[in-house]
Amino acid sequence: MITGAGGQLGRELQRRAPTAVEVHALARHELELTDLAAVERAVGELRPELIVNAAAYTAVDLAEEERERAFAVNAEAVRGLAAAAVAAASRLIHVSTDFVFAGDRSRAYGVEDEAEPLSVYGLSKRRGEVLALEGTRGEALVIRSSWLYSRYGRNFVKTMLRLMRERGSVDVVTDQVGSPTWASSLAGAIWRAAERPELRGVLHYADAGVASWYDFAVAIHEEAALLGLVPGEVVVRPVGSEDFPTAATRPAFSVLDCRASRRALDLDPVHWRSALRAMLTELSEPHDVGDAG
Ligand SMILES: NC(=O)c1ccc[n+]([C@@H]2O[C@H](COP(=O)([O-])OP(=O)(O)OC[C@H]3O[C@@H](n4cnc5c(N)ncnc54)[C@H](OP(=O)(O)O)[C@@H]3O)[C@@H](O)[C@H]2O)c1
Repeated sequence: MITGAGGQLGRELQRRAPTAVEVHALARHELELTDLAAVERAVGELRPELIVNAAAYTAVDLAEEERERAFAVNAEAVRGLAAAAVAAASRLIHVSTDFVFAGDRSRAYGVEDEAEPLSVYGLSKRRGEVLALEGTRGEALVIRSSWLYSRYGRNFVKTMLRLMRERGSVDVVTDQVGSPTWASSLAGAIWRAAERPELRGVLHYADAGVASWYDFAVAIHEEAALLGLVPGEVVVRPVGSEDFPTAATRPAFSVLDCRASRRALDLDPVHWRSALRAMLTELSEPHDVGDAG
């Protein structure tokens, strides 16, 4: 059972589902996660072997104003989902974020490092991790990832492509560093984790390598221009976070140390730039255009 099935990760999870797996993908209009009775009923009826929670309140800046809503979806609903999972003897894989870290250092964060979120979104996601683990007496698997993008939904890559088409230049911050991750790669890692029921606790999964948002935007431009998705002459201008005030404070350095999880999942690292190229190639294929909403 996949919750939040209409989101970027939810859709990539469906696309990458092994053929032998019977998938029940529930988008928000099919299962509202904050409706605890509905969650209990859905899980109780399906009694899935595995629940992957891909639903989340992901509006990082808006969360600063909508604290209650962010906590309702990212924390309280996870408590309900964990209880329903235990009652139905279902395993729970819950997805979380690099934004649980403060990002005030320059060494990759391991799973043992302390979470110190800077934003309401980060705090709500951290609370969700704790509730997923507590509610399943440590049996749940929490997979943290970072900087997700895909051909579906709203994300940095699609925003950049739009701005690059609309304007001759874009300003992008150089002082926030992380690991861009194709939601399809993360979906593959989650399906791999699904095959390993012994995995519990917290794992980190991101595509390999690091970048600032500026580096990422430069790469998006270079790769997308080669594919004819954007004009060749766009200027990508480096700016600092002080030039780009946002409601939520974001970690300056939120690279996740994924070595342990790559071993646990037996996955070869894929560099973020290769993943980006693959995603953009998909976007450039004519039959995918209508599917890119
Ligand atoms: N995006 C990133 O950069 C990023 C980075 C690291 C980790 N993550 C984590 O990765 C996971 C997947 O993120 P994503 O990028 O795929 O997010 P997304 O595209 O925003 O998808 C989230 C989905 O959850 C649904 N949802 C929201 N509130 C819900 C509710 N109350 N009940 C049921 N469904 C609800 C949304 O539906 P509506 O659209 O209808 O609201 C949306 O389809 C999340 O746990 C997120 O925290 C994301």
